[in-house]
Parts: sequence; C-alpha cells; structure tokens
Amino acid sequence: MEKVVALCKRRGFVFQSSEIYGGVSGLYDYGPYGVQLKRNLRDLWWRHVVDLRGDVVGLDTTILMHPEVWVASGHVQNFVDPLRQCEGECKKRWRADHVTGDRCPQCGGPLGEVRMFNLMFKTHIGPVEDSSSVAYLRPETAQGMFVDFKNVINSMRVRVPFGIAQQGRSFRNEITPGNFIFRVREFEQMEMEFFVKPGEDEEWFEHWKEERLRWYTDVLGIDTEKLRLRDHGVDEKAHYAKASTDIEYSFPFGWGELEGIASRTDFDLRAHQEHSGQDLTYLDPESNERYLPWVIEPAVGVDRILITCLLDAYDEDEVKGETPVVLRLHKNTAPVQVAVMPLSKKEELIGPARDVLDSLRKAGLRVEYDQTGGNIGRRYRRQDEIGTPFCVTIDFDTLNDRAVTIRERDSMEQVRVPIAELVDQLQARY
Ligand code: GAP
Repeated sequence: MEKVVALCKRRGFVFQSSEIYGGVSGLYDYGPYGVQLKRNLRDLWWRHVVDLRGDVVGLDTTILMHPEVWVASGHVQNFVDPLRQCEGECKKRWRADHVTGDRCPQCGGPLGEVRMFNLMFKTHIGPVEDSSSVAYLRPETAQGMFVDFKNVINSMRVRVPFGIAQQGRSFRNEITPGNFIFRVREFEQMEMEFFVKPGEDEEWFEHWKEERLRWYTDVLGIDTEKLRLRDHGVDEKAHYAKASTDIEYSFPFGWGELEGIASRTDFDLRAHQEHSGQDLTYLDPESNERYLPWVIEPAVGVDRILITCLLDAYDEDEVKGETPVVLRLHKNTAPVQVAVMPLSKKEELIGPARDVLDSLRKAGLRVEYDQTGGNIGRRYRRQDEIGTPFCVTIDFDTLNDRAVTIRERDSMEQVRVPIAELVDQLQARY
C-alpha cells in the first residue's frame, strides 16, 4: 500500500487535501491522472449499468435534501457508529467495535463509555442557524432515487422491473477514516436502485451479483483470484436490508468490501410514502395491480474502485531497470491510452510527431505527448509507471519510410507500422 500511495503522489494520481496546511484526515484530492482514471471508471460503470441495458435510467439529485428524508430513511436514528474516546494522554477516538478491552490501543490510557455517534455531516440552509434550518450532507446517493421515484415513473415510460442510477458525492463523518482512499469522509458513489415486483427479488439479487462481479473481471480486468462474494450475517446487515452480499477484494490489509449489493425490500419507498403522505405505489399496466416495488441495490464508491485498480495493477519489473514500476492497468481504464514521442527534440521530428498526435486525438484516443528528448527507455518507463498501454515513437527513419514504432507496455514488444495505418492498428488493440 505504501508504494502505491507514494506512486499516487509522485505521478499525480492522488494528493492529500489541503496538504500545505498539514492536510485533513479522510480527505483526498485527485491529480491529473487520477481525475482521468476516475472519469474512466465512472464512464465504464454508466455504460454497463445504464447505456448497454435499456432498463435503467439516470438521475442526478442534490447533495442537500429535505431533512425529513433522513428521518424517513432511518439515517437520523440508525446511521451511527459506537465511539469510545481515550481518557488518557492521547484523547484519540476509536470505533468501539474496533477495539478490545478498556485501554487505549495507542497510549494505554483508559477508554471512556461507549457513545453512539451519527456519521452524517450537519449544516444549515439559509442564514439562521437554528434547529429548523438543519440539513445534512447526504451519506448516500440512494435516497434521491427513492424520493424522485414518482417523478421518474410519471415522466418516463418505465415498467417494473427497471432501475434508476446515480453517481455523485456522498459524505460520512467516519470516526476512523483510513487505508488511504479506501475509507474517506468525502467520496463519490455510484448506486443503482433496481425496482422489481415483490417476490421476484431473489432472482434479481442473483442477477446483479453476477453482473457486478463480471464487470470487475471483464471490464476492469481485476484479478479474479482476488475477488470474492461474501454474504452478510444476520447481525451485520444494514437496517434496511433483507439480504446483503459484498463484493470483496483482497487488499494488502485483508479482504475488504469493494461493493455492496443489498436487497432492500420496499423499506425505503414505504418509509417515504408514510413520512411524506404521498402515494408512491406503482400501477402495473398489464395486471392492474398496484404495489410498492421491492429494490435490489448495487452500491459502490469510485474512490474504492480506483485504489483497487491501482493495487491490482501495481507491479515491479526488474528488467525495466532503475524505475521498475509498471502499472498494468486494463486498457479500458488507463488514463493515457497512447503516448507519442519524437526520438529527439530536433525540429524535423517534431512536425511529424505533432501530426501523429493530432490524428490520434481526432480518432478519440486519450493521448499524451512527450517531447522531453533524452533517453527513450526512460521515457517508456515513465509511461509504464502511469499504466500507458502503448507508446508511439517517431524517429529519423520515419522521415523516409513514413512509419513509426508502436511499443507495448506488458510485452515490451515493438512493431513498425505505417503512419497511414496507425489509427486502425491502435484502435484494433482497443
Ligand atoms: N446505499 C447503500 C450504501 O450506501 P454502503 O455499503 O454504506 O451502502 C456503498 O456504501 C459503497 O460505498 C461501499 O461498498 C463503498 O464502496 C463505498 N463507501 C462507503 N463508505 C465509504 C467511505 N467512507 N469511503 C469510501 N467509500 C465508501
């Protein structure tokens, strides 16, 4: 993990938030390559969960919502962690379920009583800061999809079974954020509420478990051996869940939740129907039955997928010499798809190199240009470190044969290709 954290900072994937002021725990910024990687992950999720299906529609709801939403959803009451504070020297706060015994694991001081701590960040809407203006930063995107359920069924031609998908920021005042971007206080979720006829929930639960697991292996290229499905025990399930299964990854700190898939019954629609006094039932146009649909929900954090991709891709290859790090990112996710580099800074190579760059960019490939000159091997290794699958080199022979060299990251194989065929050849590899 330390090596990946160092790489993230060194090569502009992830930085500590407000670092020049000492940082804030559980908050991270994304640098240029991190932004692109995150964007790719979001797009790949949307493509597979929404665009390629036809039975899921998108939504984008606000971070601040009516405070009653969180009363109805159970978050005001139940979204709590047990907290114990050290009453000795260090005053550190611990998740009570993460410590054993009555002494502080850090300084050995006595631990105080267990208190329940609500993880939602509070703020106020409007200029007056009193209890009537309290609002919360959403701790999950899911509730927006339940609250807007009626608007979606009234405005779209959707029929159960169908899903509503959303991506966006969520906030949790985690007592112990940690493991880099694995558990943070501000993160980005991708959630989908799939509404089904009561009684059909179990088959859809199985469907989504399989679909989501396949997305990690086939679309992101995550090592199958490091993924597993784990069903929640009775005492582990969230307050809304009939059943829950986690997709877990074998992180350096042990198996951990990557994504949660929950069978939420009609818990949320029913709660919002009761609290709002609005009818949220669905009328089946064929059977004329009216009911509250049940929900299967795959929910994941982009930040957590991003660290999984980096850990899974991280490799050190001694053959590559002084900078042996290679990120073997899948071609779908790599922030840069092709790096274009003239062999030297000489004017006669720069023109053709820029032409090649333009043609690849116009063809829709994510490209980067490296004109620093100097050792080409070192420039290849810089690209290896950020996971670029292909480099294209323009050399002096290019001026005569109108051909360039494609160098492949993993095999380090080099092939000579006419410029006229370059776009096709690269696209064939994607
Ligand atoms: N709507 C259901 C829900 O929010 P969750 O298991 O609490 O369920 C879903 O969260 C996913 O969001 C997790 O599997 C994880 O990927 C991500 N997530 C949750 N808390 C997080 C945190 N503090 N930091 C980063 N990601 C987090």
